[in-house]
Amino acid sequence: MLNFEEDILIAPAAAPTATPSAAPAMPSAAAIANGHSAANQPSVTGRVQAVDKRVINGQTDVNQLVPFKYHWAWDKYLAGCANHWMPQEISMSRDIAQWKDSSALTEDERLIVKRNLGFFTTADSLAANNIVLGTYRHITAPECRQYLLRQAFEEAIHTHAYQYIVESLGLDESEIFNAYQEVSSIRDKDDFLIPFINTLTDPEFKTGTTQADQQLLRSLIVFACIMEGLFFYVGFVQILALGRQNKMQGAAEQYQYILRDESMHCNFGIDLINTLKLENPHLWTPEFREEIKRLMQQAVELEYRYAEDTMPRGVLGLNAAMFKEYLRFIANRRMQQIGIDALYPGASNPFPWMSEMMDLKKEKNFFETRVTEYQTGGALSWD
Ligand SMILES: [Fe+2]
Ligand SMILES: [Fe+2]
Repeated sequence: MLNFEEDILIAPAAAPTATPSAAPAMPSAAAIANGHSAANQPSVTGRVQAVDKRVINGQTDVNQLVPFKYHWAWDKYLAGCANHWMPQEISMSRDIAQWKDSSALTEDERLIVKRNLGFFTTADSLAANNIVLGTYRHITAPECRQYLLRQAFEEAIHTHAYQYIVESLGLDESEIFNAYQEVSSIRDKDDFLIPFINTLTDPEFKTGTTQADQQLLRSLIVFACIMEGLFFYVGFVQILALGRQNKMQGAAEQYQYILRDESMHCNFGIDLINTLKLENPHLWTPEFREEIKRLMQQAVELEYRYAEDTMPRGVLGLNAAMFKEYLRFIANRRMQQIGIDALYPGASNPFPWMSEMMDLKKEKNFFETRVTEYQTGGALSWD
């Protein structure tokens, strides 16, 4: 059985560098599609050789998917397609009845749902914009671009899912969609993220220097390890904990699919980061690693404050202290996945049931509301 949490690239040794050759007199279609200046980069002419491909600053034609070099990216693209789902396939009728029934949910549980949607309704749009307007044009491996296209669509599906829940429950759309401007514990998380996203979406930003390539690497780490790898997890635990108590099961089922997708996004990002490091070891300096540690520690604090704000009294058998331990556990894991020592040695996972939530290959899903075998076709040979 595939465990996405364990499905991290064991990266091969660094590939030999491309052989420089004469630059073409006119910019090629490949150079234009690469979206960056080739002025200070060696050009690779002739037919594409896998060995010449690079995840950033590559000079091979990005319009040619094959020959494959980054099989891990292509495999994740196939797995993402095989996991396809759509929000409206999931019934929200029981959730709607519970939401209308004043005795079915406590005020604290209702606050969790509203805060959750307040964060996620805009977070996935931020994620999509980061991919489409930022990351995509800086990545020169077509296998990775292929995955990013799939990932961008999945972010659209997630925004669709949150909107579907808001609409189904008849929530105040203005309140929910403005929460990231108006609720400080949400705003603080987004204020942390947005400068890193803006770096990549800035039309003036180009890779090709050590400083710029470190900026890109830093933003990729913030996006994969902190945004998708940490900032989503208090919210996921809260809604999935509701589902485990037979509350808001339609919403919880949607979150279960989103968690599976996000786990794959995070793992793709980590594979990309580790490959970028292997191909550009000069970027991974001690100072850079210290900076990443500080960012992760700051993120753990922000996410903990969000946990406290969303559950001030403790609810569902959960409390903010449990989340502190959980966030430390996740932060350790993310750091180790990119080759940095644990920040919080000894932290343990207070929610071991979360790993079951990612395993959807069973006859019925965790909440037993519908068949959840979404694997389409024979593309997966993971188990
Ligand atoms: Fe998402
Ligand atoms: Fe994502």
